[in-house]
Amino acid sequence: MDINILAIESSCDETSASLIHNGEVINNFIATQSVHEKYGGVVPELASRAHQQNIIPIIDQALNHANISKSSLNAVAFTQGPGLLGALLVGASFAKSFAMALDLPIIAVNHMQAHILAHFIEDPKPKFPFLCLTVSGGHTQIVLVNDYLEMEVLGETLDDAVGEAFDKSAKLLGLPYPGGPLIDEYAQSGNPDTYQFPDTSTVGFNYSFSGIKTAFLYFLRDRLKENPKFIEEHLNDICASIQRKLIDMLMVKLRKAARKLNIHQVAISGGVSANSELRIRIVEEGEKYGWDTYIPAFEYCTDNAGMIAIAAHYKYLARDFVGLDAIPQPRLKF
Ligand code: KG4
Ligand code: ZN
Repeated sequence: MDINILAIESSCDETSASLIHNGEVINNFIATQSVHEKYGGVVPELASRAHQQNIIPIIDQALNHANISKSSLNAVAFTQGPGLLGALLVGASFAKSFAMALDLPIIAVNHMQAHILAHFIEDPKPKFPFLCLTVSGGHTQIVLVNDYLEMEVLGETLDDAVGEAFDKSAKLLGLPYPGGPLIDEYAQSGNPDTYQFPDTSTVGFNYSFSGIKTAFLYFLRDRLKENPKFIEEHLNDICASIQRKLIDMLMVKLRKAARKLNIHQVAISGGVSANSELRIRIVEEGEKYGWDTYIPAFEYCTDNAGMIAIAAHYKYLARDFVGLDAIPQPRLKF
């Protein structure tokens, strides 16, 4: 029997819908919310309002494009968390109403698990067990992935996520939100060894990025005192140097975990896995340490419903459904 699932993602500032047919992601439509740019970060109330406006058109687009009628659907999936409560509510409410109207089973997906399962959308696919460095605007985790739905967080950030460190650094440089991709862009023409920043790592496999953010703030303040045009004159080198530091911090713990667990399958996922330096570094270090490395396609790095769809497919196979009483969980854990 065919398995057709409609999947919805609405945890933060992207409204997205995807259709998956027998484990093949057929489409992945994303409506990005530009309303947050001028505020320097996602404004939760504006995000949920934009989700309300976007959700029906984006789902219509996914269904029409896939040429799958509503009556051929086998389940509907939504992101249950983690994420912004008001944003999650829009996807959850839609999914439940849709399921009720069409008498479909409902699948609740963990957003962080989905970022990892994005690796199973296209080839090459990692083999179990593998380590996944999940790096986004809200999370920084080293996860041991034993099976599709069996994952264990080995280490995580104790304060800011690495994407947040990118975005806050960008904000201090006067760049619009989200600044991570812009730092990446400017860094490509800069020298990463120009400026040094202190190491703010913690013990074990955990991360801490709040210290580096403060160090960067004081660094800029002191340099701007000497030269008010410091940022505009040295933007590329500043971006390359802060990016190098953040990526170095990520790689130290990842190497440590791979060595300790003796694992040679290593993947990255989440929005920051779109970063060009991280993508190069993971491959380089993979060659050095004998890892098979896995990097998702750009389309599946940042938030998207394709990854919710692939997670939903495996949950469907496991008959892991929820009832109409399922509610969004902003702090959902594995
Ligand atoms: O996974 P994601 O789309 O949303 C969350 O679940 O948070 O990740 C968004 C984060 C933002 O912090 C954004 O600045 C960062 O990913 N990001 C990047 C790049 N592309 C997206 N950071 C650095 N370099 C990039 N190329
Ligand atoms: Zn995400």
